Amino acid sequence: MEKMNAKEALNLLIKDVISDPSEVSLYENRWVRHCLYVGVAAGRIVRAINENSEHYAYFKDYIAEHGPLDEDYAIVSGYIHDIGRKISHPLHTTEGYKYLCDLGYMEEARSTLTHSFIDNDINNSADPVTGEDRYNFINNYLHSVELTPYDNIVQLCDLFCLETGFTTVERRLLDITKRKGIYENSLIHFNKTMELLSRFELDDDYLEMKADELGCSKDDLSFYSIFPEISKETLDKREEDREELLKFIRDNMPDTPQLLEKK
Ligand SMILES: [Fe+2]
Repeated sequence: MEKMNAKEALNLLIKDVISDPSEVSLYENRWVRHCLYVGVAAGRIVRAINENSEHYAYFKDYIAEHGPLDEDYAIVSGYIHDIGRKISHPLHTTEGYKYLCDLGYMEEARSTLTHSFIDNDINNSADPVTGEDRYNFINNYLHSVELTPYDNIVQLCDLFCLETGFTTVERRLLDITKRKGIYENSLIHFNKTMELLSRFELDDDYLEMKADELGCSKDDLSFYSIFPEISKETLDKREEDREELLKFIRDNMPDTPQLLEKK
């Protein structure tokens, strides 16, 4: 099977869902628009990392070993990560995986399962996995693959891309958490999300040097500078959103926090 390219991923994403591309703005296709933003964001992040790969502590060893990150593969992984929503909303991870595997896209199917679990750990999810068989299937799959930057990139993109565009992870988590509610691992998921985000910042000493050279602040060169569509107002509200989110988690946290599974 040939590798899927970004154009094919886009066609497959909208196949049987949208016959007229202008329909993509319709309310019922919100998830498709979210996938488009995740794909675009994944591509942009790869370009940014490749341009400065030696100044991203988390990614530089992988790139030294494997070469520059593959922008097209990242875009494909982003476009199709939620493709299972064609079949079932609550079971979209496993249904998306089956859908792509049935078409022969075994490697591309990866992001359908990995995108919801930061660092490919089933505990690091915004909501619990339903069904024992499904839990075991996903957990076994996550243990069978080695974590790559592409997994992390789609995991992060899923956490700052709304169906209306890019936002901060704090704003996106507020949106997810208020819609889906809280469960035992919500606080773990929040902490993991912030840790994940930090890996996409340039190394601090390089940032400092670059900010000096350009006569700007370090904030102007932060991860979010790759996404100038995010308004200053939203960026300035990060701390406020973070506090609101943490308060919401703490106020609604079940009495006996427990990990689903310890690694
Ligand atoms: Fe998603």
